[in-house]
Order: sequence, then C-alpha cells, then structure tokens
Amino acid sequence: MQDILDQLEKKRAAARLGGGEKRIAAQHSKGKLTARERLEVLLDEGTFEEWDMFVEHRCVDFGMQDQKIPGDGVVTGYGMINGRLVFVFSQDFTVFGGALSEAHAEKICKIMDQAMKVGAPVIGLNDSGGARIQEGVASLGGYAEVFQRNVMASGVIPQISMIMGPSAGGAVYSPAMTDFIFMVKDSSYMFVTGPEVVKTVTHEEVTAEELGGAVTHNTKSGVADGAFENDVEALLMLRRLYNYLPLNNREKAPVRPSGDPIDRMDKSLDTLVPDNPNKPYDMKELILKTVDDGDFFEIQPDYAKNIIVGFARMDGQTVGIVANQPLVLAGCLDIKSSIKAARFVRFCDAFNIPVVTFVDVPGFMPGTSQEYGGIIKHGAKLLYAYAECTVPKITVITRKAYGGAYDVMASKHLRGDVNFAWPNAEIAVMGAKGAVEIIFREEKKDPAKLAEREAEYKARFANPFVAGARGFIDDVILPSETRKRICRSLVMLKDKKIENPWRKHGNIPL
Ligand code: HXC
Repeated sequence: MQDILDQLEKKRAAARLGGGEKRIAAQHSKGKLTARERLEVLLDEGTFEEWDMFVEHRCVDFGMQDQKIPGDGVVTGYGMINGRLVFVFSQDFTVFGGALSEAHAEKICKIMDQAMKVGAPVIGLNDSGGARIQEGVASLGGYAEVFQRNVMASGVIPQISMIMGPSAGGAVYSPAMTDFIFMVKDSSYMFVTGPEVVKTVTHEEVTAEELGGAVTHNTKSGVADGAFENDVEALLMLRRLYNYLPLNNREKAPVRPSGDPIDRMDKSLDTLVPDNPNKPYDMKELILKTVDDGDFFEIQPDYAKNIIVGFARMDGQTVGIVANQPLVLAGCLDIKSSIKAARFVRFCDAFNIPVVTFVDVPGFMPGTSQEYGGIIKHGAKLLYAYAECTVPKITVITRKAYGGAYDVMASKHLRGDVNFAWPNAEIAVMGAKGAVEIIFREEKKDPAKLAEREAEYKARFANPFVAGARGFIDDVILPSETRKRICRSLVMLKDKKIENPWRKHGNIPL
C-alpha cells in the first residue's frame, strides 16, 4: 500500500509542478503567479477540491505523444469564497503556454456542467496561447463546447472571467460571453488577431498592449469591466465582487447586515446639487453617502464615465446602482453609456438584484457621430433592459430628467416600483431655453419676450410637481433622507413578484 501511496504522491507532485521549475520561474519573472498560486489567493484557505489532475492530452502528432503533463495545462475544481461555493478553472501557462487541447476543454466543460447541476458560479482564470496548435480542429471543437456551455449558463449562474495573460484568437469569445471580464494591467491582453496579422492585413503598427491590453479594453473598447494592478489585487477584488452576487438565478444575493443605520440622514446632500442647473456635481458623492458604509464596487469605472454602474448594499441587501454622472458629458446618454448600463441592468434582472437608479440626464447626446453610430438602436437597448426588468426598481431624480431619457431611466411608465424626485428636479420634454425657441419661434427676434417665456416655462415645468400631480413621481423627498427612503422601499419590495409573458426570448435591439 505504501508503494501505491508513494506513486500517487509522485503523480500529484508531477501535476503540481506543471511545466517545470524553469517555466514557473519565467512566469514569476513576468510578475505573474502560477495557476495554482492564483487559486490559493482566490479561494478560502484549504477549500480547493481539485478534479482531473491526471487528465492528459491524446495528441500524437508533432512528437506530442512524448510530452504529456498531468492536468494538461488547466487546474479545475471547486472551492469556497467566504464560505460560498464556486467552480473554478485556472489555465497554466507553464504547460504548452496554457493552450487549449481537447482534453483541457473537457476539463473546463466538466466543471461548468457540474456548476449548472448544483447552481453555483464559475470563475475562469485565463492565461493561454489559445487553441493548442498541434491538435488542430480537436482544439477548435473544444472551444466550441465551452462556448455552448457559456451560453446555456448565461443568466442561470454568474460567470466571471479574469484575464491574467494572453487571450488570443477565438479564445476571447468564451470570456466575452461571461458576465464580467477583468484584466490585469501590463500582463494581460485580448485580441481576435494579434499585432503581426494586423500589420499584414491593415499595415497598422501596434503593440500587443495598445491593441488589446487592460487599458485599451477598459477605456476604448469597453470589452473589459475593470483593470487591476497585479494578480493578487485582481483576485482579492474578485473575492470582493463575489460577495455581492447570488449563487444562481433562483437565489437571492447574500444579505450582509452592517452597522450603518438605515435611517441615517446626510445633511450635506441637501446642498449637493448646485443652484445653477448647468453646473456639474459628482454623482458618486451621492452614491457613496447613500449606500451601506460607503462601500461601492464599480463596474467599468473607466469606460463611458457619463454613466456609473456597480454593486453596493443597502440595509445589507445587494443592489445594482445605475446613475447618470453630470461631471462627464453633462450626464447625457450616448451609445457607449446606453450599452454599458443596459448590460448591467440585465445582469441585475437575471440574478434578482434590485436596481436603484439615480437620474440627472439632460437627454440623449445629439450629433452625426451618434446618429451614424446607431444611437437609436443602442439607446433602445437601455430602454428595453429597464422595461423587461422585473426586479425591484427604485428611481431617484436628483435634477434633470429630460425627454426620452426621462422615460428610459427607470421611469414609472417602465414599471418603476418607487419613483422619487428631489425638490429641485426638472422633469420636462427638454430644457427651458430649447423649448421656448421651438414653441415661440416667432418671438425669437425679441430677446426680452423670449426670456420672459423661458422664465414662464421654467416656473411651469422645471419642478417635480407636474409629474407628481399625475402620480408619475410617488413622492418628492429631501435629498438628506434619500438613504432612508430607498431602504424602506427595498423592505416593501422584498417579495415583489411579476412575470413577463411567456416567449422563447425577446428580440432586444442588438
Ligand atoms: C501550443 C503553444 C501555443 C499554442 C504557446 N505555446 N501558444 N503551444 N499551442 N497555441 C507554447 C510555446 O510553444 C512555448 O512552448 C510556450 O507555450 C510558451 O510560449 P512562448 O511563445 O515562449 O511565450 P511568450 O513569448 O510569452 O508568448 C506567448 C504567446 C505566444 C504570445 C501566447 O506563445 C503565441 O503567440 N502563441 C500562439 C498564439 C496563437 O496564435 N494561438 C492560436 C490562436 S487561434 P515551449 O515549449 O517553448 O515553452 C485560436 C483559435 C481558437 O485560438 C478558435 C476558437 C473559435
């Protein structure tokens, strides 16, 4: 028996060593942790249960029959994050550059299938040179098996991708179908075709970092949802995010009560909005002063900053926050911000997370670049997302809610459950100046008369009471009591249940 145990330990040691000391040292020299070290940081200590440590590839071409490394370039299994179950795979760049073979794909598929059976999220730590070149179509088939599972799992269990090295070619499409993609700065990149191919085809000279590094995908393309300084910070932030999420679409997110009283008033909010309606202010201040302990996990903080989205807790309960940011583009809705917020609202809706919306929006962004880029279709995504959303929806209009953007931003008409406005709110078809220039066009030549009309329009419409008189606003509240009023609404909405009509699926404008 001792011999057998020794053999087992030997096999395990070989699997743990992956591609060997030299390649591990090379991985460390790039500032990267190994696949196993990453799991140690991500999971609660001693909770990792590894599966398929002895799986080997079946390739016999290009001398591969003599190069078998147990585990075949990916460490898979399950463990706990703060005591809650999670399935994981972590690609091992020291084994054939983490390239995906048929066997490697089967390991990932196995834990995805199991995660679906028990209803627990999957986190993928990606560090891979893509399809295992020696395996050809078997590897491509492996990718497609993973893609199919990503789609079936979408909206059923949360799926999160952390890009911690290369992710090239079709390999980007599995992360792309997960709920969140995070990247590590300077050591990760994602692109469909690399710099060499780009040079050949389009004659553009671009580095891998410029083409698909963390900064590119977090500021330009919007592919990624966050960027972190290094592996350890990235994994610790992932643990933090995990705490906000339910395990699956039939559960609610865990409640983590805090010492922050739900009736905490914040007098400073009464003076947050400047007297001059054209002056910006920082909507983040409102978010941080309203949520439990000022703790906010922002998604896509560096992309389409005219809208803020992210997770927080109120009265211990996870909420998704969506907020126009007057500091950037006056908080206008444009193509990027509409897509960013629509995707976030849909995630919240799929996973039973109430949506709290703070509105200060002067409208949709005008201009040819927006129209040619399809703002009609992309703006409709956010409208659609809010309209189909059945989780509790609480909306607070802090200042402007103009035009179509008033409708879009979780208005009463889109089944907003509780719609508040601050006393200074302006709810109208458009700003006073633009409005009088249209409806009193003939008086345009008389500036004094026009100014009079503008003042008249302002007095009539630049307030929340016209909407309040129709019941479109449930109450006009003091800014300082915003937290209390939202928390109470959340308690009232705890058991909200509404269903959309049966259909195979809707046809969201893509
Ligand atoms: C097999 C691979 C590999 C791959 C890397 N390796 N990529 N082996 N298949 N795809 C091996 C290398 O041969 C090397 O082995 C080891 O991994 C480390 O690679 P290096 O090149 O030394 O590392 P580095 O300099 O850091 O460069 C990393 C890299 C580069 C940028 C990822 O390896 C690379 O360009 N690889 C090919 C990328 C690619 O074109 N993949 C296919 C994409 S198409 P040794 O033994 O020397 O250590 C695709 C289609 C999917 O993925 C379609 C799905 C629909």
